[in-house]
Amino acid sequence: MRVSVSYLTSKDITNDLRKLNVTNADYIHVDVMDGKFVKGKTLAFKHLKNIHKYTSKRLDVHLMVKKPLKYIDDYATLNTEFITVHVENKDVNKALDLIASYGIKKGISLKPDTDIDMLIPYLDKVDLILIMSVVPGKGGQEFMEESFERVKKIKKLLKDHKSKALISIDGGINDEIAKKLKDVDILVSGNYVISGNDFQYQIYKLRGN
Ligand code: DX5
Ligand code: ZN
Repeated sequence: MRVSVSYLTSKDITNDLRKLNVTNADYIHVDVMDGKFVKGKTLAFKHLKNIHKYTSKRLDVHLMVKKPLKYIDDYATLNTEFITVHVENKDVNKALDLIASYGIKKGISLKPDTDIDMLIPYLDKVDLILIMSVVPGKGGQEFMEESFERVKKIKKLLKDHKSKALISIDGGINDEIAKKLKDVDILVSGNYVISGNDFQYQIYKLRGN
């Protein structure tokens, strides 16, 4: 099980990124919010583009924005493994094609109340499905229990469509919830890791060892 750490609730991003860099976290999850697609708003790219000074981890970029096409070129210049766009956006296919043109893995995410069948048209072209287990917009929220059932349904959907996309889950993940998500490929966790004194210990607990 891979772990991707979100620094959305960090009060000292550069210091926390340095601390995460010496853990065995697999990715840094970069939440990008425009204040339109979701309520929250994050730092502009010009402030984030020096992230490589603080982390050598690969980035898992989550675009919670109305117009993802405007953001992809910038985030593609970083040490980026995945760029994920939302299925509720317009121009999803164009965004996925643009991500692919950079050789970056393509992800698609859906909000907790979005019909999972909306994923179907994209299943043969995405590398990752990012299941939101909170209403996106801020970190530190409580995991929505109905997400367990959605993970099962999405797993079945992938199987039925012979898709090899990875499954990632994002929002409210802690060690207790992680125990019930053994069949997920990537756990995204923010507040649970960042609020701990020892980031590596929190990550061990998420992985269940
Ligand atoms: C929610 C974000 C998540 C969130 C994860 O809008 O997409 O990535 O920050 O953080 P926690 O684990 O604090 O819910
Ligand atoms: Zn996220």
